[in-house]
Amino acid sequence: MVAKAAVIKQQIQLSDAECDARIRAAKKTLGERLVILGHHYQREEVFRHADISGDSLKLSYQAAQSEAEYIVFCGVHFMAEVADILSRPGQAVILPDLAAGCSLADMANLAKVERAWRDLSSVLDPDQQITPVTYINSAADLKAFCGSHGGIVCTSSNARKILDWSFAQREKVLFFPDEHLGRNTGYAMGIPLNEMVVWDFNQPLGGLTPEQINSAKIILWKGFCSVHQMFQPAHIDRFLEKYPDAKVISHPEASFEVCQKSDYVGSTSFIVKTIADSAPGTRWLVGTELNLVKRLHETYKHEGKSVHFMSPTICMCSTMFRIDPQQLMWALESLVEGRIVNRICVPERESTRAKHALERMLTIS
Ligand code: 13P
Ligand code: SF4
Repeated sequence: MVAKAAVIKQQIQLSDAECDARIRAAKKTLGERLVILGHHYQREEVFRHADISGDSLKLSYQAAQSEAEYIVFCGVHFMAEVADILSRPGQAVILPDLAAGCSLADMANLAKVERAWRDLSSVLDPDQQITPVTYINSAADLKAFCGSHGGIVCTSSNARKILDWSFAQREKVLFFPDEHLGRNTGYAMGIPLNEMVVWDFNQPLGGLTPEQINSAKIILWKGFCSVHQMFQPAHIDRFLEKYPDAKVISHPEASFEVCQKSDYVGSTSFIVKTIADSAPGTRWLVGTELNLVKRLHETYKHEGKSVHFMSPTICMCSTMFRIDPQQLMWALESLVEGRIVNRICVPERESTRAKHALERMLTIS
């Protein structure tokens, strides 16, 4: 333990440039035994080492299809759990820093969701009337809950299709943990705002009356992403005063008001593609995480596109940022030495039920 701590400390002192060369060397040695998956929010010094990059949906597919013995996930904990659930026996999923969590995912837990299900059963029959839908940004046991209650997982890029499927099963949806993705998607499908109620998990019966529950189509968990909630409609107004021809694009984890004022709303991959496909000279205001917006700015400035970050304050995903070149190098060099470090292993019982919910999603998407 002491030896391991000393090695990590030495590595933390290495510069990013020194790590860069050692990461490349370790990748070369591991060859096809290794695949590095990188989410769009990863910092540049890590992102450049990803063999495959993408949004949560694409990375889930890639994890399910990979032949590599080691899947190193440069992203956050729930993403690595999904990769482990979808991986084959003999594959190992590694998260370079185990503290890379997701504050949104932490807003729901199994005890609270089970309590909500019990509370709801005092008003209706949840297993007959409600499809539980968990955003992929959630722990594996919540995916398992959905798997065993006829429910499903969604991502920001397939939420609409998944809600269509959910309403074909049962008349209502309990959507957790992100209130905003649920509301933005439901509204885009034509569900009026007054048919989407918010479940406050700290209140008896979610702070709702039986009448409100009975007349709701979607029950939205009161959870949010601390990064995306920083974006405000006033940021858009101020920007458009200065640049009236600019286009606004936001991630659906942003508030309803921000998404309503945006020209486009979609997943990180949708944001990347929309800006990539836009005409030279287009000016963009982007409501998503800073590292992705910085990369888009750098990539497209040469094409005369100008990409701006929505908030005047820094809104970085601090947990995505925990994956640094030093930790990535340590994880890879450990593999070269024959040691698997920071392995993510979802317990089998949970994994099997979570896989039902994930496979339903992958089939529908
Ligand atoms: P995407 O699936 O759009 O990449 O979103 C993941 C996420 O965590 C956004 O905050
Ligand atoms: Fe989670 Fe928000 Fe970070 Fe996405 S940006 S990983 S939702 S904390």
